Amino acid sequence: MSETSEADLVWIPKAAAIAQEAGARLREFFAQGVETEYKGDVDLVTVADRTAEKLIRERLAEAFPEHGVYGEEGTRERMEGEFRWYVDPLDGTTNFAHGFPQFCVSMGLEQRPAGATPAQDGTIVAGVIYDPMRDELYTAERGRGAWLNGKPMHVSRIDHLAESLISTGFPSRKRHDSPNIHFYHEFTLRSHGVRRAGSAALDLAYVAAGRLEAFWEFNLNPWDTAAGILLVTEAGGIVTDFAGGAFQLNSSETLASNGLIHAELISLFNEMFAGRDLSPIPTPQEFAKRRAERAAS
Ligand code: IPD
Ligand code: CA
Ligand code: CA
Repeated sequence: MSETSEADLVWIPKAAAIAQEAGARLREFFAQGVETEYKGDVDLVTVADRTAEKLIRERLAEAFPEHGVYGEEGTRERMEGEFRWYVDPLDGTTNFAHGFPQFCVSMGLEQRPAGATPAQDGTIVAGVIYDPMRDELYTAERGRGAWLNGKPMHVSRIDHLAESLISTGFPSRKRHDSPNIHFYHEFTLRSHGVRRAGSAALDLAYVAAGRLEAFWEFNLNPWDTAAGILLVTEAGGIVTDFAGGAFQLNSSETLASNGLIHAELISLFNEMFAGRDLSPIPTPQEFAKRRAERAAS
């Protein structure tokens, strides 16, 4: 972790103020309650998502007129530029819509080489995640460190999966295609537990803050991960794909950890993808037998 103080940061002061303003709007919507619309299957959206994205888009244009913005709710502006913000105005919409107070604003800044085409990715250089319900602000700049409410933050020191608390998430589209429930099962049996709290960005922030040892998910989008992966790496952790390869923003695999349990996680993913060493799930016949035995006892 670097000795840089937050005062030396380039983009974070303005970006953090924007995330906090958007978070305050989310808090108001949360208190008053909003109607839910469906984008698909169980993919929800609300007026709060759209209002927060509009606010962030406008504030970013004022603060950083040259920067591009790529937002979950449809913003695509200045995508050819050197800098682009990946914005999730409300990560955890399903929670929000149900009154479950676990959601956040997430903003990650990418820097790309001069002359890059809009399709070419760059490097994440700044990240802000704001949890308006707890008033927790997570910030990081590349090479300068990571902070929680202005205090340096660091990943945890637990070095065994068996003693770890970890987390994951499940997609709201094509749910039947996701193999993740099998991984959820295995990781649950081999750790202190797996949380499914419903905000990938906050899950990543929690790994960075040392509250969770690891997080994985299939098929996230750049607006879910851009800020969080920088928080994790600047807090001393690691982010890769499930095989330990370089993480890509549009990768279908995100595996973040404190670094100390990373090899163990990758080895479990390898075993599972190869179909080895899996713990069997009880069959319907076994369930029925156990229930009958319990009823008879
Ligand atoms: C979702 C959350 C959730 C994750 C889903 C995401 P949204 O984002 O991050 O935790 O499991 O994959 O789509 O839709 O609430 O912004
Ligand atoms: Ca999201
Ligand atoms: Ca969202």
